[in-house]
Amino acid sequence: MTKKILRALAGETLPTPPVWMMRQAGRYLPEYRATRAEAGDFLSLCYAPELAAEVTLQPIRRFGFDAAILFADILLIPQALGSDVWFVTGEGPRLSTITDASGVKALKPAADVHETLSPVYETLRILTRELPRDTTLIGFAGAPWTVATYMVAGRGTPDQGPAHAFKAEDRAAFSALIDRIAEATIEYLSAQIEAGAEVVKLFDSWAGSLKGEDFDEFSLAPARRIIAALKERHPGIPVIAFPREAGPRYEGFARATGADCVALDQSVDPAWAAAHVQRDGCVQGNLDPRHMVTGGQALIDETRRVVEAFRGGPHIFNLGHGITPDADPDNVALMVETIRAMDPGDSA
Ligand code: CP3
Repeated sequence: MTKKILRALAGETLPTPPVWMMRQAGRYLPEYRATRAEAGDFLSLCYAPELAAEVTLQPIRRFGFDAAILFADILLIPQALGSDVWFVTGEGPRLSTITDASGVKALKPAADVHETLSPVYETLRILTRELPRDTTLIGFAGAPWTVATYMVAGRGTPDQGPAHAFKAEDRAAFSALIDRIAEATIEYLSAQIEAGAEVVKLFDSWAGSLKGEDFDEFSLAPARRIIAALKERHPGIPVIAFPREAGPRYEGFARATGADCVALDQSVDPAWAAAHVQRDGCVQGNLDPRHMVTGGQALIDETRRVVEAFRGGPHIFNLGHGITPDADPDNVALMVETIRAMDPGDSA
């Protein structure tokens, strides 16, 4: 039997949605914290195939999710293009900054990224051997705009101000940066697919700060370009796009980019998305990750509400964004149980 996630991505409406979670391998799990301590730091864990495969498998063992997502980070691409990348504990990522055309020119060519990223492909090869038969293996990368916001600012920013400033000052150089990241992303995701990824997801976490033509040019167009190239090289490979906080721009995003599924953040009303986004194909989402901290009847009610809203079409259950380190694993188990108990064929 074909895996549930692949059936949903192909447009099938299932009795209950398959489920996985963004950031499902992470600090809310004690076994993750133990493996990370063994690796030393976060980036070392990303480049240690045996350990990265181990943390990818941990949430599958605990919760029986329908998909495993490769353990890595969107900031490996900047590193592979020649930026310095490091993580400051308790604060987040830091990178060398790119603020003008000369910084863009100094980046390595896209074809060179494999030199840095080959351990990631090894992680995927290990996972293809170790995953349960009905679990789908998802690869991923950051979308060019989101990756660029970190490369320009050298860190996470609340409003992506430095990237917007670069774009305003030298649009041609900024476009060259977006193009270089897009080319590198095609190389990277293509190699992930060759190593065993059955689906790939593009994380455009900061898409919501692009408006009007900027959204078309720097979120939508690069996604379309990457998806077209991947589908040309790997016919039939399903792609999930996540233009987070795109609001009304979620409508039509799948059609415009060729994505098989659009992932929705928790700001989107499921009833609206069922009418305006799901009519184009599969949607993924969108329970508020806060429920993984607070639990209780509200978690059960909201989980059911999301499932009910999307019941008329193809749907993959997920959170609207990553699970946070303060989440309680018992709440994750309760969410999965609640979804699966909604199967009309399930006597429970
Ligand atoms: O979803 C998964 O479980 C797969 C692995 C994954 C990670 N990061 C692991 C990670 C994925 C898909 C990502 C994507 C990612 N990384 C995004 C896009 C999705 C999103 O959340 O919006 C972004 C913006 C990043 C960049 C990044 N990585 C930041 C800003 C941080 C620091 C914030 C934090 O949570 O600590 C990271 C670190 C990171 N990436 C961790 C994990 C498990 C925590 C690292 C640790 O162990 O301390």
